[in-house]
Amino acid sequence: MAWKTLDDMDLEGKRVLVRVDINVPVVDGMVTDSTRIRRLKPTVRDIFAAGGKPMLLSHFGRPAGERRANLSLQQLIPTLERAFEAPVVFAADCIGPAAEAAANALAPGQVLLLENTRFHGEETKNDPDLAKAMARLGEVYCNDAFSAAHRAHSSTEALARLLPACVGRLMQVELEALEAALGDPRRPVTAVVGGAKVSSKLELLSNLITRVDNLIIGGGMANTFLAAKGFPIGISLAERLMMDTANEIMQRATELGCTIVLPSDIVVAHKLDSDAPYETLPADQCPDDAMILDAGPDSIDRITKVFEDSRTLIWNGPLGAFEVEPFDTATNAAALKAAALTRAGQLTSVAGGGDTVSALNASGAGNDFSYISTAGGAFLEWMEGKTLPGVAALNDAA
Ligand code: 3PG
Ligand code: MG
Repeated sequence: MAWKTLDDMDLEGKRVLVRVDINVPVVDGMVTDSTRIRRLKPTVRDIFAAGGKPMLLSHFGRPAGERRANLSLQQLIPTLERAFEAPVVFAADCIGPAAEAAANALAPGQVLLLENTRFHGEETKNDPDLAKAMARLGEVYCNDAFSAAHRAHSSTEALARLLPACVGRLMQVELEALEAALGDPRRPVTAVVGGAKVSSKLELLSNLITRVDNLIIGGGMANTFLAAKGFPIGISLAERLMMDTANEIMQRATELGCTIVLPSDIVVAHKLDSDAPYETLPADQCPDDAMILDAGPDSIDRITKVFEDSRTLIWNGPLGAFEVEPFDTATNAAALKAAALTRAGQLTSVAGGGDTVSALNASGAGNDFSYISTAGGAFLEWMEGKTLPGVAALNDAA
């Protein structure tokens, strides 16, 4: 990989424009998950240590060019100060005279937070003039927003071409972890792909069967595959229009030597409710009036055996309806097994995607994975084999 890191840059006395992704969930004015903010600490710390002055650029929500008070980044200042253990000063715009004055007045040891980049409608159009106005603020550009690297926006793409550019520590770790999982991984490689829809993960499945040795399919997607095999699936969530596609994927996987693992037994109920009576049945025996909500114990056994024989695991999406107990059983059991194998040094495990991270954290396995990405859409696009514009711009700049 061609990109530069903070170690390659001269930061002494320099104003460093750092593109971060502090698009964190906020409920009633409270940050409910500050992971994306806390993981920025090494970047801020290392810029300080090298004598540089960090100035943060980020989007927040999707204000589409409107100044919306509820999407001002100002509300994140206390969370940022706690995470960085440094004072954070704020500029009410990310370009223009006020931002430039704040940038010039920034003292060593302070962090400057620039207002939401998406208050300018040009940001999401990758507008070069907006990028130029941003570039005027700093002398070095550092992209630490892997989770926004699938967007070609002024602050993630055009700006990288205007200043000496490098990756931040978080993005560096993300790229290294993903490279270890899919670039040149230890084999066998197993992927777990779950979630509701085949249609939204079609490119992902098509790419993975060319790269991994085992593909474990779970969640609502698995129902579509079971239906494609001619099994009854009752009133399960599934995409009946995708059955031909599912068959094509299975056939292509066989040709490529990729083993697809589908549930061998299923947990069914009449509704998605933790009080609903449920039963475990062989995968080809779903009653007409029941829905498949999780994989059963035999499936869990098979999945954990596949894990034991694997050296690399890449995970996106839960195996069952994990938000509702007890239909989180397969997801939890598989996650805990992956965590144990990782702890034992047998497995490199990488996971990403919004739902996935909450499912793994809920199971208690999250801390023991080799790497958990902060990215949702970007992680998926990376797994799909796509070039991320934010990464490509850094490579070109280098
Ligand atoms: C995310 O939360 O997935 C990233 O911050 C990207 O946000 P976006 O989907 O609004 O571009
Ligand atoms: Mg998103």
